[in-house]
Amino acid sequence: MSDVNKVWRLRKRPVGPIGDDVLSYEEEAIPTPADGQFLMKMDYLSLDPTNRIWMSDMDQYMPPVALNDPMRGVVCGTVVSSKNPDFAPGDLVSGLGSWSKYQIGVPGYMNKMGPLGGLPVADAFGMFAVVGPTAYFGLMDLGAPKAGETVVVSAAAGAVGSVVGQIAKIQGCRAVGLAGSAEKCRWIVEELGFDAAINYKTENLAEALKRTCPQGIDVYFDNVGGDILDACLKQMNLFGRIPTCGLISQYNATDEVPGPKNYPMILMQRLKIQGFIVLDYANRYPEAITALGGWMREGKLKFKLDMDEGLENAVKTVRKLYTGENTGKLMLKV
Ligand SMILES: NC(=O)c1ccc[n+]([C@@H]2O[C@H](COP(=O)([O-])OP(=O)(O)OC[C@H]3O[C@@H](n4cnc5c(N)ncnc54)[C@H](OP(=O)(O)O)[C@@H]3O)[C@@H](O)[C@H]2O)c1
Repeated sequence: MSDVNKVWRLRKRPVGPIGDDVLSYEEEAIPTPADGQFLMKMDYLSLDPTNRIWMSDMDQYMPPVALNDPMRGVVCGTVVSSKNPDFAPGDLVSGLGSWSKYQIGVPGYMNKMGPLGGLPVADAFGMFAVVGPTAYFGLMDLGAPKAGETVVVSAAAGAVGSVVGQIAKIQGCRAVGLAGSAEKCRWIVEELGFDAAINYKTENLAEALKRTCPQGIDVYFDNVGGDILDACLKQMNLFGRIPTCGLISQYNATDEVPGPKNYPMILMQRLKIQGFIVLDYANRYPEAITALGGWMREGKLKFKLDMDEGLENAVKTVRKLYTGENTGKLMLKV
C-alpha cells in the first residue's frame, strides 16, 4: 500500500482545556493485522466529551490512554484487509479504536455495523454507536418517565440531550431543556418540540426552572453536574429520579470541585440518583436501536450531525464540546 498512516498520540495529560501540546499528529507506517484481526481505514471519528476524561488520569470507568499511545476514540470505517474469516474488505465496522487513519480492528472492540435502517452511514453511526443508547437507557431505565411528568435535561442541544428531550416528549412528558445560547434554545423548542428551553448562561436558573416547570421536576437527566445540578436538585419532586449521565462542566476543572449545596434534597425528597455508562447496556443495544430507529422512521425523533472534516482537525474539533460550539452530534469526516 503506497499510503501512509496518520496517528494522534497522547503526549501529556491536559491541565484545564486541551492544550496544543497534549497530542501530536504523526506520520507512521500502516500496521499489519495479526491472525484474527483486520485492518480498518477510518471514515468517521466520533468526538465525545469523554475524550477529555480518557486523556487525563482522573478516576474513571476504564483505564486512561497511556502516554504516547494513539488517542482512543469511537470510530467507524471500512475493512481494507483481513486475517479474520468473519471480516472481509469492504465491510463497514464501528466501535472502540483510535484517532488513526488506519488501525487494527480487534473483534469485540470493533464490530460489523448492523443494518443502517435506511440511514446514511454517518447518521447511523452517530445515533446508534453511543448517543442514542445513552439517551434511551439513561432516560427509560433510570429516569423511568411517566406520561404527564416533567423531564429536565441539560446540554439539551447537544447529542445526548437533544435525543433525551425528544424521547421524553414521545413518552408524553413535559420536556424542558437547558442550553447555552438563544439559537440552541430556539432549535430545541421550534424544531425538536421541547416544551420550553432555558438559556442557562443568561437567565437566573432558579427562577427559570420555576417558570418552566410549574409542577416541579420529576426527572433531571444530568449531562453537566455543577451549578446546574444544584439548581435542579432544589426543585425536584418527591421520589424524583436523576440519571447521572455526564459531568461536562467539571472535565476541564483544575481545582477540586465542590459538592452540591442542595444535597439534603436527596433525603427530603427521597430522590434516586444513579450514574451509568452506556457500556453497561451493551447486551441490550438491539432494543434501543429498534426503538430509536422506529421513532426516526415515524418522524418523531430528529437527529442532527455537526460534521467537521479532516483527521488533522481532531483536536480543534473536540474542543468545541467544552466551549459549547457544537449543536447535535459532533463528528469528523476523515
Ligand atoms: N454515561 C455515558 O455512557 C455517556 C455517554 C455519552 C455521553 N455522556 C455524557 O453526556 C454528556 C453529553 O455528551 P454529548 O456527547 O451529548 O455532548 P454534547 O452535549 O453534544 O456536547 C457537550 C455540550 O455540553 C455543554 N457544555 C459544555 N461545557 C459546559 C458547562 N461548563 N456547563 C454546562 N454545559 C456545558 C455545551 O452545550 P451548551 O452550549 O448548552 O453549554 C456542549 O455543546 C457529557 O457529559 C458526556 O460525558 C455519557
